Amino acid sequence: MALGAPSWWLLVAAALTACARGDPASKSRSCAEVRQVYGAKGFSLSDVPQAQISGEHLRICPQGYTCCTSQMEEKLANRSRSELEAALLDSGRALQTTLSAQLRAFDDHFQQLLNESERELQAALPVALGGPDGPTARALRDLYADLRRFCRGASLQLEDTLAEFWARLLERLFRQLHPQPPLSEDLLDCLGRQAEALRAFGDAPRELRLRAPRALLAARAFLQGLGVAGDVVRRVVQVPLAPECSRAVMKLVYCAHCLGLPGARPCPGYCRNVLKGCLANQADLDAEWRNLLDSMALITDKFWGPAGAASVLGGVHVWLAEAINALQDNRDLLAAKAVQNCATPHTSPQSPEEKWRPDKLLVPERPPVGALEKLVSEAKAQLRDAQDFWVGLPGALCSERLAASPASDERCWNGQAKGRYLPEVMGDGLASQINNPEVEVDITKPDMAIRQQIMQLKIMTNRLRGAYNGEDVDFQDAGEDGSGSGSGEGCVEEACGRAGRKSPRPRPPLTHTLPGLSEQEGHKTSAAGRPQPHAALLLPLLLLPSRWR
Ligand SMILES: *[C@@H]1O[C@H](CO)[C@@H](O)[C@H](O)[C@H]1NC(C)=O
Ligand SMILES: *[C@@H]1O[C@H](CO)[C@@H](O)[C@H](O)[C@H]1NC(C)=O
Repeated sequence: MALGAPSWWLLVAAALTACARGDPASKSRSCAEVRQVYGAKGFSLSDVPQAQISGEHLRICPQGYTCCTSQMEEKLANRSRSELEAALLDSGRALQTTLSAQLRAFDDHFQQLLNESERELQAALPVALGGPDGPTARALRDLYADLRRFCRGASLQLEDTLAEFWARLLERLFRQLHPQPPLSEDLLDCLGRQAEALRAFGDAPRELRLRAPRALLAARAFLQGLGVAGDVVRRVVQVPLAPECSRAVMKLVYCAHCLGLPGARPCPGYCRNVLKGCLANQADLDAEWRNLLDSMALITDKFWGPAGAASVLGGVHVWLAEAINALQDNRDLLAAKAVQNCATPHTSPQSPEEKWRPDKLLVPERPPVGALEKLVSEAKAQLRDAQDFWVGLPGALCSERLAASPASDERCWNGQAKGRYLPEVMGDGLASQINNPEVEVDITKPDMAIRQQIMQLKIMTNRLRGAYNGEDVDFQDAGEDGSGSGSGEGCVEEACGRAGRKSPRPRPPLTHTLPGLSEQEGHKTSAAGRPQPHAALLLPLLLLPSRWR
C-alpha cells in the first residue's frame, strides 16, 4: 500500500528532527533499561513509558528524548538524596565502629590495671588489719572505685579524693592498731591534722599526689577523645543533605538512565564536584578533626615512664602497701605524739603491753605490660587513617558508592552527555563552593548542627592539651551540657545556660561516650541534652554568615 502524502511527510520530519539531535535512534529506543533500574528500586513500572518521549517536562535532567516522566524524575531525585544519605551513614558507621572498639579496648585495659592492682593489695592485707571485709579494706575499695570512676570521666577532684582517703585510712588503721581503749573522734581528728607533718604514711601520699592526677588525666582525656570523635561522626553523618543536593545527585546518578545512556559512569571530576557541594559543611570539620586526632596521638606519650598512666594505674597498690607499712612502723611514734599533742584524759592510747610486731604487706610490683603498647600503636595507626575522613568523603563515596568512572574521557557521563568533564574540581569546604558548577551552595549559611560539632572538637582538643600539661581543663561552660541526669531536657537554651552558670556546677560527666561506659549512661545523656555552646563562644560563629556576605 502506498503511503499517503501527509504520513510520508511526518516520517521525514521525524527523521530530520532525530538527525538534528544527533541521535537517530532515540525516538524508537525502548525504555527497557530504565524499567529495570526503576523497578529494582521498588517503584511502579506503570510510571515508565514504553518508549522514549519528548523531554520538555524535565526539570533536572537535560531535555531531549527521555524515558523519564516528571513524576519519575521527582521520585528518583528524592531517592538519590536518601541513597547518598544512607551511604554517608554507612561510612560514618564504619569509623564509629573503629573508634568505639578502641574506646572499649582502652577503657577495659585501664580498668583492668586498676582491678589487678586492687586485687594484689586486698590479697596482701593481713588479718591483723581487718582482712578483706574490714574497714581498711573498705576504704581501699572506695579509693579504687573513685579512681575507676575518674578514668571514666566522673567529676572528681583527685587531690581532694586522695586527701580524704588518707584521712579515712589513718583513722581506720589507727583504730585497728589501738583497739583498747576506744579512741575518741577528737583524738583521731587531732591526729589526722598532724598526720602529714608527722609523715605518718611515709613518702607514699606525696608520690601518689604528684603522679596519679597527671597520669589519670592523660588516660581519661584519651578515652574522652575517642568518645567525642565517635560521637561527632555519629551526629554529623545524620545531618540531612540540602534539597539542592537531590537535584545534583539525581543528575549525576540517574539522568544518564533517563536519556538512555546505560553504562555511562559519572566522570570523576563531575562526581567530586557534586559531592564536594553536597558535603561542603562536613568538610569544614577537617581542621579541628585533625587537631583532635593529633592531640590524641600526642597524649599517649603520657602513658609511659615511671609517672605514666601505665605504671601509675598498675602500681597504685605498691604505694598503698608502702603507706600502710610505714604507718605500722610509725605506730608507737604516732601514739606518743597523740598523747603529747592531742590526748584528753580518757582517751590516751596506751602502747599495748604485748610485743608489737608489724604485719607487713608484701605486694608484687608488676612489670610494665606490652599490651598497652600494642593497643597504642594500633590506635595511632587507625587515628592516622581517619585523619582525612571528612575531606576524603567525596572521593571515597564517588569511587565506592557512585561507581564513578576511573578516568575522565569521552565515555563518561558529564551531566549533559557522554563526554569529557571540563570544569575544574572545587576545593574543600563551604567557602570553596562559591563557584561550584553542579550544586548551588549558599556559602553564607553554614550548617549550625555541624558548627556545633566543630565546637565539640575544639573543646575536646583543649582538654587533651590541658591534660598533656597535667591540667584538668574545665571547659564546661563553653559547650558541655553538664546534664548528667538529663536535667537539660526540655528547658529553654538560654534559661539552662543561665541556671548552669549561676551555681558552681560539678565537673560534667563524660557526655560523649558509649552506652554503659560512663557511670551515668553517657550515650543517653548526650542524645537527650544536646551540648549548648556558651553564647559568648557561639556568637562569633553566628556572626560568620553576615561577615561573609
Ligand atoms: C520528594 O520530596 C519532597 C520533599 O522532601 C516531597 O514534598 C515530595 O512529595 C517527594 N516526591 C515524591 C514523588 O516522593
Ligand atoms: C573491675 O572491677 C569492677 C568492680 O570490682 C568490675 O565491675 C569490672 O567489671 C572490672 N573490670 C574489668 C575490666 O575487669
